[in-house]
Amino acid sequence: MSETPGTASGAASGPPGLPEARGPLSAAVRTALPQAPPPGELPEAGDADPFAEDLQLALYLAYELHYRGFAGVDEAWEWQPDLLRLRAALEDRFLGALREAVPGGADVAGALDGLLAEPLDAPGVSHHLQRRGTWGQMREYLAHRSLYQLKEADPQAWLIPRLTGQPKASLVAVAFDEFGAGHGDRVHARLFAEAMAGAGLDPGYGRYLDHAPAETLATVNLMSLLGLHRSLRGAMAGHFATLEITSSPGARRLARALERLGAEPRCVRFFTEHIEADAVHEQLMRRDVIGGFLAQEPDQAPAVVFGIQATDYLEARWSDRLLGAWAAGRPSLRLPLCDG
Ligand SMILES: [Fe+2]
Ligand SMILES: [Fe+2]
Repeated sequence: MSETPGTASGAASGPPGLPEARGPLSAAVRTALPQAPPPGELPEAGDADPFAEDLQLALYLAYELHYRGFAGVDEAWEWQPDLLRLRAALEDRFLGALREAVPGGADVAGALDGLLAEPLDAPGVSHHLQRRGTWGQMREYLAHRSLYQLKEADPQAWLIPRLTGQPKASLVAVAFDEFGAGHGDRVHARLFAEAMAGAGLDPGYGRYLDHAPAETLATVNLMSLLGLHRSLRGAMAGHFATLEITSSPGARRLARALERLGAEPRCVRFFTEHIEADAVHEQLMRRDVIGGFLAQEPDQAPAVVFGIQATDYLEARWSDRLLGAWAAGRPSLRLPLCDG
């Protein structure tokens, strides 16, 4: 595969090509999409491993139809009933596994406060990169995160019509910043594309889908799952608050890592922008969005806690994937990156 490092126009580029399949579920979807709907027979989800490469990629393919789709794929697939039926079965397995994996409860403040308690014996990816990460590891980090950051805040925007009053107003205030506060060149997805280009990566939307392992896909699939279902609005609010609360300290560490590694200023800007913006967003999310939402719908507290815990759980799995690979001297992506 060739890689063409370039400008950050990728954030505005056309839809990506379809990725390679990773098993029978993703192969069935991958085979169907280039054809005109309806599909031939689609498989059953059966007892497929909810966190494995195959199921996560099949789910990712189905969700991506709601964002930018894929090159050469008929847009009518977005609401094709047979594919939606398979997607629902995949979602059931994923959601069920997440509910089993987290402790649950209804203590929203406790769950939010727990997010910043970084265990000293198990520092995360941004800690590692700040202290001793290599340039190659930093480039891998950017490639992993590109799956979300090039559509930053799109999945969370689905929460807007599900809120009312102050929580809606405050959520939109946060989203206004994520989408550039009226300036196309300040859209956070655009800033991330600039960072990628500065690191010699291809900033094209979805360019690193084949590279991304299941652990990365799961973090993005969670956002789409929570955003696309009104019944999961409480979990989406908890998820979004989790992102905003953990973003500011993480961005500070990553900005320092990039400076230590001698990265170009355009690589650092995305992160410095988030240090201050997300300190403000954290307060808005906690007090006005979560607080206001729970004042309106107090029985949503367990859902909010689930969104916080599920996000934290998948981030920890993702972090284990990266740090485990790096500790063993291996790349953390499924495919190697070209030099940059
Ligand atoms: Fe942002
Ligand atoms: Fe933010």
